[in-house]
Amino acid sequence: MDKETFVKEYAVERQNTDAVKWDGLEAEFGASDLLPLWVADTEFKAPKAVLEAMVKRVEHGAFGYSMTPAAYFDAYFTWQKERYGIELHKDWLRFGTGVVQSLSTVIQFLTEENDAVMVMQPVYYPFMRVIENNHRKLVISNLKQVDGKYVMDLEDMRQKMEANQVRTLVLCSPHNPVGRVWSEAELEAVLELCRQEQVHVISDEIHHDLIMGKRPFVSALSIKDGYYRDNLVVLDAPSKTFNLAALQNSHVIIPNPQLRDRYDEHVAKLSSPAGSLLGKVAAQAAYSEGADWLAGFIKVVQANFDYVKTKLTQAFPAIKVSDLEGTYLMWIDLSGVIAKDEVTDLVKKQAKLAVDFGDWFGQAGLGFIRLNLGTTPANIEKAVAALIKALKEKQA
Ligand SMILES: Cc1ncc(COP(=O)(O)O)c(C=O)c1O
Repeated sequence: MDKETFVKEYAVERQNTDAVKWDGLEAEFGASDLLPLWVADTEFKAPKAVLEAMVKRVEHGAFGYSMTPAAYFDAYFTWQKERYGIELHKDWLRFGTGVVQSLSTVIQFLTEENDAVMVMQPVYYPFMRVIENNHRKLVISNLKQVDGKYVMDLEDMRQKMEANQVRTLVLCSPHNPVGRVWSEAELEAVLELCRQEQVHVISDEIHHDLIMGKRPFVSALSIKDGYYRDNLVVLDAPSKTFNLAALQNSHVIIPNPQLRDRYDEHVAKLSSPAGSLLGKVAAQAAYSEGADWLAGFIKVVQANFDYVKTKLTQAFPAIKVSDLEGTYLMWIDLSGVIAKDEVTDLVKKQAKLAVDFGDWFGQAGLGFIRLNLGTTPANIEKAVAALIKALKEKQA
């Protein structure tokens, strides 16, 4: 699908629909007159096939306890195999209501209280919240920038893993907010490090369908033909890809049978989160018939990225923009044009934009903003004009 058709057919007004991103502005930012480009969901309806499948299911009218049909596994496994070469097996798979919920559950069964868990900052802030809420020790390794590109600092990781006896690493692949799609070599290096240091890896692959650049996505499951699988739990969901977050359905993939038993035992104590009926109906339809929709969405995001990058860097050559290899989240360094500690006030109060501020992702993010590109070109144009105007007035 081309991007004009996509926007015309799928763009939707979300204000006054109880959308956190639009109707939760006051609660988060203390103002409701901001243009929201924060929460990672989009202003687009799900694919038509998804809506039709849900309507059909709703019209049936009875919502008693339900099972996951064989067709669900077929649709999801075919999607993963045909697009990424990932071989999945039904017995590896468990369902959750969301990736963050599953992350918490997995950390609970993989580690004990006070055990150390590592993240690579700047990173999606619920990782830190989940680790700390579970009374685990948070160990931070900052990504480093080499020639303007974020890379993992493996030496720093090794040293901190040993110094803190880290038990688990939470990997974000692709990486929110810096937009990296890790290469096979990078993934192999970090998985090998974790194997040597006896550190389990939780790979959050929720953004894996949102590949914007040329580098293909490779799952941690596929590295060296599955060599690291025994050490690995993978989390993913159709929610970012198809804008289904509120439908509460996600995947936990545990190839190692011993780890899986431990997961099952732990989840039994919680009386098992198992996804949701309508979430599964939606996901099955999306995996079966959503590819063309996704191609259109990716074109919109790419065009939005190009627009923002061109306009901002033309107006202010000192603004640095990370390449968007994956995700629909743009990571922008404003520290070349404005003091780091003035970014929040300027963006919120002068430009009237609600974005994710860089320091939410860790101290390394101070001076950055994360802009959500999963919206209409019209919103993006408004946001860029407002940001440029505010920065110019500041400099005048
Ligand atoms: C890396 C990452 N993991 C998880 C989530 C949220 O997943 P869920 O809504 O399934 O908890 C997000 C949402 O932005 C994300 O960026």
